[in-house]
Amino acid sequence: MVRNVAELLPELEPEDFYLLSGVEQGMRFSQWVKRGKLPSFSGLTPEEVDYRLERCLKRGLIEKKTIQYEGYSLQFEGYDALALRALVERETVAEFGAPLGVGKESDVYEVRSYKPLALKYHREGYTNFREVHRERDYASENRHVSWLYTARKAAEREHGILEALYPEVAVPRPIDQNRHAIVMEKMDGVELSRAKLDDRQVGGVLELLVAELASAYERGYVHADVSEYNVFVGEGGVTVFDWPQAVPTDHENAREFLERDVTNLVNYFDRKYPRNLPAVDAAELADAIAEGTFEGL
Ligand SMILES: Nc1ncnc2c1ncn2[C@@H]1O[C@H](COP(=O)(O)OP(=O)(O)OP(=O)(O)O)[C@@H](O)[C@H]1O
Ligand SMILES: [Mg+2]
Repeated sequence: MVRNVAELLPELEPEDFYLLSGVEQGMRFSQWVKRGKLPSFSGLTPEEVDYRLERCLKRGLIEKKTIQYEGYSLQFEGYDALALRALVERETVAEFGAPLGVGKESDVYEVRSYKPLALKYHREGYTNFREVHRERDYASENRHVSWLYTARKAAEREHGILEALYPEVAVPRPIDQNRHAIVMEKMDGVELSRAKLDDRQVGGVLELLVAELASAYERGYVHADVSEYNVFVGEGGVTVFDWPQAVPTDHENAREFLERDVTNLVNYFDRKYPRNLPAVDAAELADAIAEGTFEGL
């Protein structure tokens, strides 16, 4: 688990961030950045680099490895610190709060500015990279192997999709993005998996959710990971979140993903609320969505 860097931020100095962003720049070319290259990447003197390396190592923001040369690499904590500081500087984030969720490939925290928001740090690529790394020694990895690149791309993708879908589709309102972090509105409610719908709500909620998938399809996207864990249900209605893996509707597997998304919802409702579910056929619903003729269950 990646540590929360928010409490570290006040003790970090501008030069620490120059060093971190110097390491970040070097990582565009190799996973381990040569110590000798850090003055030019960071704009700091060699002596200042030495001092900042110590401070950042001690705080777990970077790591050091000596293979053929002495190299440095960002830890996720260092990358988090860079993203969080950028978001604070442009006043997207004013206060940092409690964890909202730890996903397989993300950490989500409550943050605040003028209202409660959610900050999601993407973690895609990290575990994969580690596994690959153990087996082979990457002296000069292709930059696309880097978890930095993978996580940042996932954040850019998710933010872009939220911007394309909001507000027509019930998704969290996108606020900002930097590096592998996105900031969005904090959702009201609870995950569908933890919601206890009363008998009269069941059909209506399923219908609302299928209508959101239809509306996303109309705007060109299939979520491709819909489940009771990626849907919130609250007083104000439903919200479908967690979009980085969404595919455009012209993707060759879009139809298959759409049907799987609908099936996941229908099966979940079927298991949890068997007595209150109207008879529905997931394949027919998916057809109706794809043809633009969905009008209700
Ligand atoms: N905008 C938000 N407002 C409130 N809570 C949120 C928000 N976004 C995410 N969360 C919480 O954080 C958790 C993880 O978020 P999300 O599903 O987007 O991440 P993930 O890592 O992709 O998840 P998965 O485990 O499905 O891969 C969610 O289950 C939810 O509880
Ligand atoms: Mg999720």
